[in-house]
Amino acid sequence: MHSMKQTLDSLPVDVVVMAAGKGTRMKSRLPKVLQRLAGQPLVQHVLTTAAHLQARSAVVITGHGAAEVEAALTASSPTTALQFVRQEPQLGTGHAVQQAVPALADDGLVVILSGDVPLTQADTLQALIAASGGTRLALLTIEFADPTGYGRIVREGAQVKAIVEQKDASDAQRAIREVYSGIMAVPARLLKPWLARLDNRNAQGEYYLTDIVKFAVADGVEVVAHTIEDALQVAGINSPVQLAQLERAHQLRQAHTLMEQGVRLQDPARLDVRGQLACGQDVEIDVNCIFEGQVSLGEGVRVGAHCVIANCTIAAGAVIHPFTHIDGEKLGVSVGEGALIGPFARLRPGAQLAAEVHIGNFVEVKNSTLAKGAKANHLAYLGDATVGERVNYGAGSITANYDGANKHRTVIEADVHIGSNCVLIAPVTIGAGGTVGGGSTITKSTAPGALSVARGKQVSVANWARPEKKPKAK
Ligand code: UD1
Ligand code: CA
Repeated sequence: MHSMKQTLDSLPVDVVVMAAGKGTRMKSRLPKVLQRLAGQPLVQHVLTTAAHLQARSAVVITGHGAAEVEAALTASSPTTALQFVRQEPQLGTGHAVQQAVPALADDGLVVILSGDVPLTQADTLQALIAASGGTRLALLTIEFADPTGYGRIVREGAQVKAIVEQKDASDAQRAIREVYSGIMAVPARLLKPWLARLDNRNAQGEYYLTDIVKFAVADGVEVVAHTIEDALQVAGINSPVQLAQLERAHQLRQAHTLMEQGVRLQDPARLDVRGQLACGQDVEIDVNCIFEGQVSLGEGVRVGAHCVIANCTIAAGAVIHPFTHIDGEKLGVSVGEGALIGPFARLRPGAQLAAEVHIGNFVEVKNSTLAKGAKANHLAYLGDATVGERVNYGAGSITANYDGANKHRTVIEADVHIGSNCVLIAPVTIGAGGTVGGGSTITKSTAPGALSVARGKQVSVANWARPEKKPKAK
């Protein structure tokens, strides 16, 4: 057993991803493999799984929308060495893999995947690789109650003898319920000569990759089937309906994983995680929340209904009230321990909130640091600001951080009280413990402890008579 593991560990894996198909039934301008599941292109899921296999290389076969597919994958910079080959025109799955031959080394085990089958798990592929052992042709198979459309696994006794496509199958073969998933592992040194022997003399006039099973049998190479029961792992996408169905199934699965870790979901069917969500103990999430990118929720964090939270770290005990929108994009957002955010709050990239900060309804925070206990509870904007401890920032106040050309910082030192409807024109510093009177437009920095008022003086005219409406001329 030990030596077998060693042999497999030293066996380089090269992944081939078929992604040339058109996806006519999606009725979309976007190539099918770039349609998104859980926020990521379908083919990106496949490459992420390949990266988990520690594959030496990945060869993606493109055709329809090739330039777009290649650009999207190059930009996402996966860890595995990525190569592209083009298949034009598309003459079948065997023809597709033939295009990859020049890109494949002879000493590797080739794992063939489809760009439109996003949810295959790495451990399934590891088992398939082990079944091949670097010497056998290993097929991933599954039994379906309704196998219509799939290639059937034809056996003699236990021995796999062929894969027969639906359109070429006899009635007896069509009754076979074990089907080929579209995924196989095959040593490159066997695959290459087999691909050279393919022809297109079949019902569809295509070069079938599945015909290599016959060649293996003829050459005395063992063919093994690794059978799984989990249909989601081999489900391909051909239409918007199938995409939506797989999305819900995948989301429900993620929700169950979170609940198994102890997360309390008000309704597992009303959660969407498009990325990685890490949760501490006793996290509670209400309905219809969406998490994107990398999100981490500390112990005891509560997230209210209808929040959208992306690329953000939320520390223990913080409460995110309903309808809050947080997106850290590349800079990230951090929310400190025991902070209270929302309802209807908006935290943008670079918002860094310390412990016990309060951000209330219709408050927007961007690229700003708020120290412990600072509060902005109503209708306000803090952009490019440094806010000290215990500052109280009044309703309707804004930092005017942009002069039309450049952005400038506003510094509000500890214990400052900013009244309502103030405009702080940056760059400006409000000295510690100072107060700014409501309605002030502050253009000059203020000294610590000062009261600053910058608004028109109030004028009251005693006993003033309001003009009267003139009678209409006839
Ligand atoms: C294929 C298998 C079938 C299996 C089924 C599982 C063959 C001949 N048949 O059938 O046994 O049960 O998958 O879903 O392999 N593609 C290309 N270039 C081509 C043709 C296809 O890149 O010229 C890509 C498609 O975009 C797709 C994948 O290969 O990602 C599979 O092609 P598809 O047409 O769906 O194969 P099936 O006929 O369904
Ligand atoms: Ca298919």
